[in-house]
Amino acid sequence: MPVISILPSSVADQIAAGEVVERPSSVVKELLENAIDAGATVIDVWLEDGGRKLIRVSDDGSGMSAEDVPLALARHGTSKIRKAADLVGVATFGFRGEALPAIASVSQFEIQTAATDGEGTSTKVLGGHIAPAERIARRRGTTVTVGQLFYNIPARLKFLRSARSEWRSAVEALTALALTHPGVRIHLSHDGKSSLTLPPVSSIRSRLAAIWGGRYAEDLLDVDDVAGPVHTSGLVQRPADVGTSARRVFLSVNGRAVRDAGIARAVEAAYRSTIVAGVRPSFFLNVTLPAEAVDVNVHPAKAEVRFRDRWTVERAVETAVRRALGTLDSAASLGFRSSFSFRTFEPLPNPGSEILRPQVDRDSPLFADGPVPAGNGGVRQAEYENVAAGQEVAAAAQPIPILFQLRRTYIGFEHEDGLVLIDQHSAHERVLYEQFVRTLESGAAPAQRLLLPLTLHLGPAEGEAFDENREYLERLGFEVEGFGGHTLIVNTVPMPHPRFDAERCLRETLDSLTGDRVAGTAAKHERLAATVACKAAIKAGDELSQGEMRSLFAALRDTTLPAHDVHGRSTIVHLTWDEVERRFGRR
Ligand SMILES: Nc1ncnc2c1ncn2[C@@H]1O[C@H](COP(=O)(O)OP(=O)(O)OP(=O)(O)O)[C@@H](O)[C@H]1O
Ligand SMILES: [Mg+2]
Repeated sequence: MPVISILPSSVADQIAAGEVVERPSSVVKELLENAIDAGATVIDVWLEDGGRKLIRVSDDGSGMSAEDVPLALARHGTSKIRKAADLVGVATFGFRGEALPAIASVSQFEIQTAATDGEGTSTKVLGGHIAPAERIARRRGTTVTVGQLFYNIPARLKFLRSARSEWRSAVEALTALALTHPGVRIHLSHDGKSSLTLPPVSSIRSRLAAIWGGRYAEDLLDVDDVAGPVHTSGLVQRPADVGTSARRVFLSVNGRAVRDAGIARAVEAAYRSTIVAGVRPSFFLNVTLPAEAVDVNVHPAKAEVRFRDRWTVERAVETAVRRALGTLDSAASLGFRSSFSFRTFEPLPNPGSEILRPQVDRDSPLFADGPVPAGNGGVRQAEYENVAAGQEVAAAAQPIPILFQLRRTYIGFEHEDGLVLIDQHSAHERVLYEQFVRTLESGAAPAQRLLLPLTLHLGPAEGEAFDENREYLERLGFEVEGFGGHTLIVNTVPMPHPRFDAERCLRETLDSLTGDRVAGTAAKHERLAATVACKAAIKAGDELSQGEMRSLFAALRDTTLPAHDVHGRSTIVHLTWDEVERRFGRR
């Protein structure tokens, strides 16, 4: 007598249910997916007691004929694939033929369905036993009722959370489906009360508006970018809003809602240097790529996918989000709504505000990449020698408005939509940061050789910070000889602008490197660039000439993220005329 026996299908179904059906929200997900696979345009969902007592999903999809129902309830019964090859690029949510039998094996289950209006069947399943079908009259479509989930598996029942927490999880599952299919009308009710109505809409933004309100949706930035085979689209949070509300994350890959820690990290990487450490952005993104580049059959509940080339996908997502942040209009960061965008600055065709069309000021190299004339630097009186040749400043063809300095701290100008203020230190910091990152990634910066080298005596922690960052500091232009103990001889220094005080910058940089106060997600060279930029930038209180203001304006406009300094604060504040007029009581 053999010791091995094949398990009865009711037991096999229960085992499968262990993987597919974890809690009420898993049932909601499976039933919604089946409805969408059946081409439903209207779906109604009822829950009682957070789904623990009852889950009912009704759709107006294709329905099933009487002969198909027993097949749908049998393990591996599916209409969605026929052979293994169909798995590649499968366009339906379902393909395993497991969800219905698994759910039916752990609940008091009923399915009512009709493939044509009028003639339907109703089939009940209890404890894995399928009762004979009854004929019923109903419209085309399907209604599945799942009562008393896990009634026959006390061990699983014990693991269910409170009704409230199960309800929240079910709403999350429904939301994910609602976002992948904004065109489907969805209605949800709980304990007899209508709780969410989502009309059919054409965009993910409108869907978000229906779920979390128009204001929330409006504040998100569009993402739409193609990189090689990867198309990334959707919405992300403005950096200034990150951390101000609950974090919401939605990701779909080829139309399937999935979790993916790697992509979430790529999104976060895109925010580097725009948000403070420790907060994480909300995002709603769809990634599409060729079917053969993704394997969808790697997780029992299809909650994850496997990419053939994960690196490419993550970089594509990071670039797409980065671009979206780069085209950001800064105004919303302070709650002013407007279409102001630093990049597309179009001056007024207004005779009252004269438009200057300067080439970038050669006379004032404060913020240009070019060589600095020998002379009165903020370093010591020294003779300078260009160690590396500077690059030509790209001539800014775009006009620059009339600029004025306020409190020796802000640069102001008039704009078609209002008044704009730029924080001179933050702006310069952003300019230098990007310049330093470029330098660290590709070669060396122009540096100047000091006739009289600087001698610096460092404390042990600063000495260590120096040793750790030596290579990068040298690439930035600090050519240094160790001189025993923690004494440094500095032979060359960078020359980002004539007021630059190299000694102070190096001291302060080493001091703050010992504390490591810059955003944790940044790469090491980016951290260093941010630190040096902060120390090297002009300060509040520095008086600027017209020429200096103009070259800072032009340089800031050329950065990728002009509206943000490297600590996640705003560099630009925009006061709209609307706002001004409201304040004056003109509106
Ligand atoms: N709401 C529905 N409307 C029409 N047909 C349905 C519906 N739900 C299920 N079916 C039919 O029943 C079959 C079995 O459904 P089930 O969810 O068990 O498997 P699947 O969707 O094919 O694969 P998976 O287990 O991956 O979800 C489906 O292939 C489909 O033909
Ligand atoms: Mg299914």
